[in-house]
Amino acid sequence: MALYSETVMDHFLNPRNVGTIEDADGVGQVGNARCGDIMKMYLKIDDDGIITDVKFETFGCGSAIASSSMATTMIKGRPVAEAAALTNKAVAEALDGLPDYKMHCSVLAEEAIKSALEDYYAKHPDKRKE
Ligand code: FES
Repeated sequence: MALYSETVMDHFLNPRNVGTIEDADGVGQVGNARCGDIMKMYLKIDDDGIITDVKFETFGCGSAIASSSMATTMIKGRPVAEAAALTNKAVAEALDGLPDYKMHCSVLAEEAIKSALEDYYAKHPDKRKE
């Protein structure tokens, strides 16, 4: 069996939603202490709490790039609550699996989204639901 699924290779070679959003409503940056890789996530969120646009920059390994690409496709057009609940396991499953020793790379995507949402709530405290 190939080390990486076709889906991983596709998202690594043709990552979706790469870039930045100038007037993002939430920006998050996280780093992986194990390898030093960095991921930055930008969210555009409308008044109804729907993520209308999302972009990412990843300075990291192929699994991190594939994970962030897949994660952006899973939250674009979705409510913030759904994005907040996205787990790295769900991202890895959507990628048709990652090797065990690469699972930590997908954690970066989950944490980058959570970090961007924290920034969004810090800028829009009225939007935070208890
Ligand atoms: Fe650093 Fe994958 S090895 S995120």
